[in-house]
Amino acid sequence: MTAKIEFDGKQYELPVTVGTENEHGIDISTLRSASGGLITLDRGYKNTGSCESAITFLDGEQGILRYRGYSIEELAENASFLEVAYLLIFGELPSQEKLDKFHQDIKDESNVDEEMKKILDGFPRSAHPMGVVSSLTSALVAFNPSSVDVSSEEDMYKSIVKLLAKFPVLCAWALRKRTGQPLDYGDSSLGYVENILKMMFKKANEDYKINPVVASALNKLLILHADHEQNCSASTVRIVGSSHAGLFVSISAGINALWGPLHGGANQAVIEMLEGIKADGGDTKKYMGKAKDKEDPFRLMGFGHRVYKNFDPRAKIIKKSADDVLGDLGIEDPVLDIAKGLEKEALEDDYFVKRKLYPNVDFYSGIIYRALGIPTEMFTVMFALGRLPGWIAQWREMRLKKEPIGRPRQIYVGENHRPYAEISNR
Ligand code: CMC
Repeated sequence: MTAKIEFDGKQYELPVTVGTENEHGIDISTLRSASGGLITLDRGYKNTGSCESAITFLDGEQGILRYRGYSIEELAENASFLEVAYLLIFGELPSQEKLDKFHQDIKDESNVDEEMKKILDGFPRSAHPMGVVSSLTSALVAFNPSSVDVSSEEDMYKSIVKLLAKFPVLCAWALRKRTGQPLDYGDSSLGYVENILKMMFKKANEDYKINPVVASALNKLLILHADHEQNCSASTVRIVGSSHAGLFVSISAGINALWGPLHGGANQAVIEMLEGIKADGGDTKKYMGKAKDKEDPFRLMGFGHRVYKNFDPRAKIIKKSADDVLGDLGIEDPVLDIAKGLEKEALEDDYFVKRKLYPNVDFYSGIIYRALGIPTEMFTVMFALGRLPGWIAQWREMRLKKEPIGRPRQIYVGENHRPYAEISNR
């Protein structure tokens, strides 16, 4: 199958790649050399496939999301986060034996060098935890220099296990610093998710009891966030990693990309928006009006998605989960009612219907995080904890496929050549 491009009286025939779900992509890799300079232009990469990937399939029109072929609904209902991490990174669901070994390898690497605490000390207590976590993730390289040069799958495995082990410790430290708690290490007798909770919330002078409702809700949220193919942060991880900069710094770059309010930072922005609406008397209509007003920069946070133009399957699961978790924990959150009211109005509003804007994964997730006792500034860090296996899987796939360094082209629209002007003549 081929596609033809005609330009300036000449035709160029280009191969078409077909994916396993019958997606078609025109392969333009020879276009520039064949045509003597012609490139494609696609702001925001809305129509550009940057790679072939076997990790995650999503169909935005039908609201389908699958990791390695398994539906997100089935995984969220049945799997553990660590199983899903293994699936995403290595391609298959692990046997019990493989899962146990994977978990043991992670536990064996879960110490973070004590010197790292000095770096953490340097941050003000008010520092946003996303900045702290991304800096500490980069700093891990200094203490694990061999993790950069990954010339074999075994080297990669070692780096991957180290990161899965140490990253939750860094996230917990970022929270503990903020809340003035002594830094803590994990408890190897616990599951991966339970251990995250204990590291975050254990008080110095009390035992920490795992609440199974909280652990199961967090397990589900982490699975729902675990990968989402070539989104902004995953693409960042791939492009940084394509220079062979190493896993830890590639992930650190991904964390920074996730931080923005148009991406993972939306979960914090949603709660702040809902709180703002509540404080302003709960007038959702006023905020709907603001969201539609092109002169007003306000956007309905947690609404809209680059790819989902029908519904976000993760949002459906999370909305139900929010009801269940708040019910199980006996929490009443007025902000949940505001969120439901806004959703109902938006789904019936012409502006949102025409533009196919639906609630996304971040619309209800903050309400659950809050019910689990997680402070608002930590919401995006929780997203990062969930997304870590996806980033790792994307990075590993890119390295194993020996992808070339990522380097987009541009169309230059600046000044033509002009002579240098002496400062006295400007
Ligand atoms: N509120 C009001 N209008 C919106 C919204 C919104 N949340 N989202 C999109 N629109 C409008 C936008 O103004 C544009 O209108 P028009 O065609 O009249 O110019 C149209 O819908 C298309 O929007 P776009 O910005 O061109 O779409 P995009 O694919 O570039 O952006 C998005 C996608 C997610 C960045 C955007 O929908 C948004 O800013 N949403 C709010 C932030 C948010 O919830 N982000 C989390 C995304 S899901 C999790 C993740 O990725 O991490």
